[in-house]
Formats: sequence, structure tokens, C-alpha cells
Amino acid sequence: MAVLRFPDTDAMFDREPEIRAELARLGIDYERWTLDRVPPDSSAETVLEAYAAEIDEMKRRGGYVTADVIDVNPQTPNLDAMLSKFDKEHTHSEDEVRFILAGRGIFFLNISGRVASVEVGPGDTHWFTLCEDRRIRAVRWFQDTTGWTPHYTNSGVDRGYQPLCFGPAYLGARVRSDIALGENV
Ligand SMILES: [Fe+2]
Repeated sequence: MAVLRFPDTDAMFDREPEIRAELARLGIDYERWTLDRVPPDSSAETVLEAYAAEIDEMKRRGGYVTADVIDVNPQTPNLDAMLSKFDKEHTHSEDEVRFILAGRGIFFLNISGRVASVEVGPGDTHWFTLCEDRRIRAVRWFQDTTGWTPHYTNSGVDRGYQPLCFGPAYLGARVRSDIALGENV
């Protein structure tokens, strides 16, 4: 279950059609894919095989040449150092596409000065951080391996927004997942 917020106005959307419509206005594609093809503890290879058709279609749509699975949890070595690379406002040279398999995090988007946060459950500039459980697993697509490099804006905008995730009770059933495709994010 995703949650879209505009922290400056306290506006919030948690229904899928509304989230899709609001994000479309911002130039962000949002889709939900079912997560029922493989057990939650499947290997990365099994996940990539099970969703090969969708992953290949996304490659065609976005000009991506490769996809992988990232998996981080509280025991991941140097997790704080990893997060500190992405929780500051930045851009990439290609669209950032993620299929969330497990865990939760928040993408902050700064679109022409209007900040939105998208909590993903299982734009313009953006920054990312994890929710309290510090766990996320996702398929990532790349046009080339340098596309993932963050280009920092050093605007300081990111320091004005606290990550606000729903509590653990709001996790819901693990039967759907979220995918977001943004422009220049
Ligand atoms: Fe990024």
C-alpha cells in the first residue's frame, strides 16, 4: 500500500486510483503488480525469472539494459553509509524505476518546488530513506550502471522534511506491490 503526501499542505492520498492520478499529474508512472508468484524468501534469481516478462517489458518501455534485486535490512553492513548517499536531494541521468518486493521506504520528490512524499510498501529531484524497520527489497532497472549515481543538488530542501511512515499495524497483506516510474528521478 502506497501513501502519497504533500507535506507542505498536509494533503494525503492512500487510495490507489487517486495516487495514480495525482502522480500522473506530476509526471510519475505508478503501477501495482501482484506478488503471488514466488514465496517471500525466494532468491533474487527466482524473482527475476518469475517476473521476466514484466521486467523485459519495462526494459523496452524505459530503454533499460539490466535489472537486479536490492535487499537491505537492519543487519546490512554499512547501512547508514548506504542510506546517506540517497537521503539527500539529487537527480539521476535516467529514470529511477523500482518494484518493491518487501519492506517500506519513502521517496521524496521535489517537482518545481512542490515536495511530495511517496511511501512505497512492499520526478524532478528526489531523495529516499527507509521506514523504521529499515528493510526494503526491490527490483531495480538500469539504462547503464552509471545511471544510478546520485547528482546532489545541495539545496538543503531535504533537511526540512521528516520521513513519516505509517505504523507497523498499517503494513497490510503482502499480496500486492508498488512500482513507480518517474521522469529524471
Ligand atoms: Fe535516486
